[in-house]
Amino acid sequence: MADPLDVLVICGSLRKGSYNAALTRALPGLAPPGLKLRPAPSFANIPIYNHDDQNSTGFPADAVAWADAIRSADALIIVSPEYNWSIPGGLKNAIDWVSRMKDQPFKDKPVVLQSAAGGILGGSRMQYHLRMSLTSVDAVLFGRPEVIVTFAAQKFDEKTLELKDQTAIDLIKQQLAGFEKFARRLLGK
Ligand SMILES: Cc1cc2nc3c(=O)[nH]c(=O)nc-3n(C[C@H](O)[C@H](O)[C@H](O)COP(=O)(O)O)c2cc1C
Repeated sequence: MADPLDVLVICGSLRKGSYNAALTRALPGLAPPGLKLRPAPSFANIPIYNHDDQNSTGFPADAVAWADAIRSADALIIVSPEYNWSIPGGLKNAIDWVSRMKDQPFKDKPVVLQSAAGGILGGSRMQYHLRMSLTSVDAVLFGRPEVIVTFAAQKFDEKTLELKDQTAIDLIKQQLAGFEKFARRLLGK
């Protein structure tokens, strides 16, 4: 069997009780054996992008650590909520910093997206916008199936935040199996 792919998991929410973070914790149990998952370093303390700061003091250490983790991974899973119909600011800010770096970390990187949302529409607009931003930095986005865990409060255990919805579990398994094939084709691994 081929060596497992090294897959970095990025979560777009910083909230302690985050459904999206809970979703990332479920993924190692749902991914095929050919994907070995590890969490990305936090982007929480990356300052807001300012080109003047980049020129005067260079890239912040946390942005460099985030970029290095992306660069070293074979592929990425990004799990994020939708904020105001779009990408949460912290995640977008981290992408903005990294997009200015030489040896572009996202270039040719296979990426798959997932979201957990309170309602029925949340996540879809965020994923659409994230697809555009990541395409601008030459990432390669997996298409379908799309994963959005809608009405999250009903699908995660109230106390443990464990994902308990079988339809969502099956869809995630199907998506990650498809993503492994997609990533291996792209990487030639
Ligand atoms: C600033 C902000 C903006 C939000 N905007 C949206 C939105 O546009 N669409 C949506 O479905 N939910 C929106 N929500 C609700 C979040 O999707 C919901 O709180 C979700 O649980 C957040 O993800 P998390 O549990 O991983 O932290 C918003 C929440 C916040 C805090």
